[in-house]
Amino acid sequence: MSKSISGFSKMSKSQKIDWIVETFFKNYEETANQILKQYLNSDTKLQQLHDEFIENTITNYYLPFGIAPNFLINNKLYAIPMAIEESSVVAAASNAAKFWLDRGGFKAEVISTTKVGQVHFNYNGDFKTLETFFQDIKPKLLLDAKPITKNMEKRGGGIINIELRNKTKDLENYYQLHATFETLDAMGANFINSCLEQFAKTLKHEAKHYNGFTKNNSIVDIIMSILSNYVPECVVRAEVSCEVDNLSQGNISGEEFVSKFIQAVKIAEIETYRAVTHNKGIMNGVDAVILATGNDFRAIEAGVHAYASKDGTYSSLTHATIEDGIFKFWIEIPLAIGTVGGLTNLHPLVRLAFRLLGKPNAKELMEIVAVAGLAQNFAALRSLTTTGIQQGHMKMHLMNILNQFGANAVEKEKLVTFFKSNPISHNAVVEAIENLRKNNKSD
Ligand code: MEV
Repeated sequence: MSKSISGFSKMSKSQKIDWIVETFFKNYEETANQILKQYLNSDTKLQQLHDEFIENTITNYYLPFGIAPNFLINNKLYAIPMAIEESSVVAAASNAAKFWLDRGGFKAEVISTTKVGQVHFNYNGDFKTLETFFQDIKPKLLLDAKPITKNMEKRGGGIINIELRNKTKDLENYYQLHATFETLDAMGANFINSCLEQFAKTLKHEAKHYNGFTKNNSIVDIIMSILSNYVPECVVRAEVSCEVDNLSQGNISGEEFVSKFIQAVKIAEIETYRAVTHNKGIMNGVDAVILATGNDFRAIEAGVHAYASKDGTYSSLTHATIEDGIFKFWIEIPLAIGTVGGLTNLHPLVRLAFRLLGKPNAKELMEIVAVAGLAQNFAALRSLTTTGIQQGHMKMHLMNILNQFGANAVEKEKLVTFFKSNPISHNAVVEAIENLRKNNKSD
C-alpha cells in the first residue's frame, strides 16, 4: 500500500488508526492497535476534548504529573505541580525545596512584563519620508486597533507603544513596526497577533494613498506580522540566600561547599559547553511547571535561551556570590506566560494545577516557575559538586530499568532494598534481576 494519503484529516479516528496500523505495522497489527487504543480515555467527553486540541489525534500521550511540595516562596507555601518524564527532576526539586524551607525559603519578584510583536515590511523609498508618514499614521494605527484592544485596556493592559525601526543596514529595504504590549494575565499571543495584523492592514492602506510615496513611486510591502518569543523585558528574578555556615553538608563545611558551588556557576558563566547543560537543568524545572500549567514550553525555551545569549555569548542564567558571610544564589529569566485563556481554562488537569497553586495570577506564576528553575539548578550543582550526579540519577533510574525488565512487585521490593546498599549501574541491575530470577527458579 502507498504510504501517502489524501483526505486523512476527514477520516474518523478509528479509520485513521486502521490506516496507520495497516500501512505501517505489518505483522504487528494487533499490538499496534492495542497500544494506540489503550491510551484512549473511556470518558468520551474528556477524550473528545483532547481529540480537538489538535488535528488528526489518534490517541493520547501520557506524561507523569508529579508534585514537589514544601516550596516556601515569598513566605507562602506551595506544592508545585510538574509534568515531566525525567526520573530525577521532581525528586531534585523536592529536595531543594526542603533544603531551603529550613533556610528562609525563596524570594521572587517580577521585574517587568512587556511583550513584543513586529510587523515586518519592505519599503524602497527614503527613510525621512517613511518616518514622517509613520508619525502621521501612528494615531490611526492605534485607533484602528481599538476594537481589539478595548477590553484589554479596561483591565489595565493594551498597546504600550509602536516604533518604526530601520533595519536596512542589515537587510535591504527592511523596516519594522516594533510594538510593545501589556497583556496582564494572558500570555497574549492571540491578542498581540490580532493587533499586529490590524497594524499591517492600516499601514498598507494608508501607504497606498500617501502623497509622499505615490509621487516618488515608493512602495510599502508587508512581509509578515507576528509576536516575538524574545521577551527580555518580561523578566522575573528568584533568589535564595543564607549564611555560609548554614550550608555545611555532612562532613563538607559550608565554606568548602559554597566555594565549589560558586566556581561551578562561574564556569557556566564563561564556558558555553557547560552553560548549555547548566541551563538545560534549569529548564528541567521550568518546563515541567510550564507544561503542568498548560503554557507553551516551546515559546519559553526559545525565549529563555535567546536571553541567555543577550550579551553576545551564551551564558548561565543563574549567578552566585558571597558577601559578608552570606551566600546568595539567583536567577533572572524571561517568562511570557498566562493564567487565563488557551489550555488554562480547558484542560481539567491544568485547572487542577492552578487550584493547587492557589489560583495564581500571571506574575505569581512567573515567580513560581522561576523558583522551580532555580531549585532545580541548586539541586544539580549541589550533587555535581559533592557526590556526583549519578548517585541520585541512578537511584531514580532503577525503577525504569526494573520496569523495562518486567519486574513484578515482589522483585521490585527486593531489588530496591538490595540497591540501597549496593552501587547502581544498568549492568548491576540487570545482573541482580537475573540472579533473583535464577534463585527463585531453583528454590
Ligand atoms: C540533567 O537532566 C540535568 C543536569 O545535567 C544539569 C546540570 O548538569 O547542571 C544534571
